[in-house]
Amino acid sequence: MSGNKAHNWKSSYNSIFDQKLQEIKNEGHYRYFNEIERKAGQYPKALHHKDGKTKEIDVWCSNDYLSMSQNTEVMSAMKNAVDQLGAGSGGTRNISGTTRFHVELEEKIAKLHSKERALAFNSGYSANDSALTSILSAIDNCLVLSDELNHASLIEGIRASKREKVIYKHNDVEHLKAVLKGIPFNRPKMIVLESVYSMEADFAPLKEIVEVAHEHGALIYLDEVHAVGLYGENAAGIAEQEGVADQIDIINGTLAKAFGLAGGYIASSNSIIDFVRSFSKGFIFTTSMCPAVAAGTLKSVETVQDNPEIRSKFFENVKLVKSELEKAGIPFLDSGSHIIPVIIGESKLCRKISDYLLEEHQVYVQPINFPTVPKGTERIRITPTPSHSKEDIKKFVNAITQAWIKFMPKHEQLISSNIQLKK
Ligand SMILES: Cc1ncc(COP(=O)(O)O)c(C=O)c1O
Repeated sequence: MSGNKAHNWKSSYNSIFDQKLQEIKNEGHYRYFNEIERKAGQYPKALHHKDGKTKEIDVWCSNDYLSMSQNTEVMSAMKNAVDQLGAGSGGTRNISGTTRFHVELEEKIAKLHSKERALAFNSGYSANDSALTSILSAIDNCLVLSDELNHASLIEGIRASKREKVIYKHNDVEHLKAVLKGIPFNRPKMIVLESVYSMEADFAPLKEIVEVAHEHGALIYLDEVHAVGLYGENAAGIAEQEGVADQIDIINGTLAKAFGLAGGYIASSNSIIDFVRSFSKGFIFTTSMCPAVAAGTLKSVETVQDNPEIRSKFFENVKLVKSELEKAGIPFLDSGSHIIPVIIGESKLCRKISDYLLEEHQVYVQPINFPTVPKGTERIRITPTPSHSKEDIKKFVNAITQAWIKFMPKHEQLISSNIQLKK
């Protein structure tokens, strides 16, 4: 900052940011947002707006796994709540921002996970970040064991607690055991992991991790963000499906994916929830979720539980998309979950394929690049929903097959000859 001081000092700050942005542009992982306008009641149909033009497209990458954002009962519950209470909550939970819907939602979530109590946050991210920071900060000398592919919200929550952390190899129970070997039983510990890893589409070996935790006296913090609403008899997630929910000390979930709206939560014991409610800055010092969101998510959880056919149709479609991709010779990661990642391995190519699918075939899958996934593992991530019709699936598989032939020539031999491509 010299010379033309009065004139230039602001631009020298901006150049710091511009340089960083240029770096990610050069590397091909600058983020462009596609402007998508979903049409209520017609999902996966949506409008894509670009350069003053509008096209109808099919969305194939939403985390609204069950299309609950467009469920008519959920929409009505939200509209009614606005009519009854107005739009905003009016304050933090402590200062006038707790409505009947917030209370009922937390009761519903606690019941969903068979825990004593639950606490709602404005997002799953802030639930993880705030809860982990406050809980870990309270446990002196706590050692944190964190899966290497944990989500940013978990990583940040652990980091802010300033507790010692050891990263164990992804889903590797033997490595976790090796890390824990020699650590005294009475040193406090917490294992932090996800049940479904959304970019790898794989499941944590939860039963084995529960055993390890037991053996070493470790608490378990489990992020079920990509599992709640989908897995388990009552749609509570993998811990329920595996019969180990009572062994998990803190369960985190979102209301934004399978439940289709926004917001996150933790469910746990009375003591832990009361502690987080009373000490966590990310809970205390923020306006509570809008009452309509609380009412809508409450209705969404109920609707998913009361209508098992929503989930059956969803899993049927996941199976169908996988089998059609297989027939077409498109390789994808398959660990049995509902997410279907197709690895491209290069950020610019990943973007090109996504643009081609959108422009030429009107199907939308967002490229997933660094830092969401490690460099060299860039991918497109396909998420079928119960709303995709057989026709939509056919159109999508045809489009991706053509993209594969055009952009991934060395894989062309994988394309089965009996696939009829529509031009
Ligand atoms: C594993 C995991 N945890 C937490 C979150 C944050 O959830 P939310 O979108 O509700 O903030 C995400 C979001 O994608 C996630 O993938």
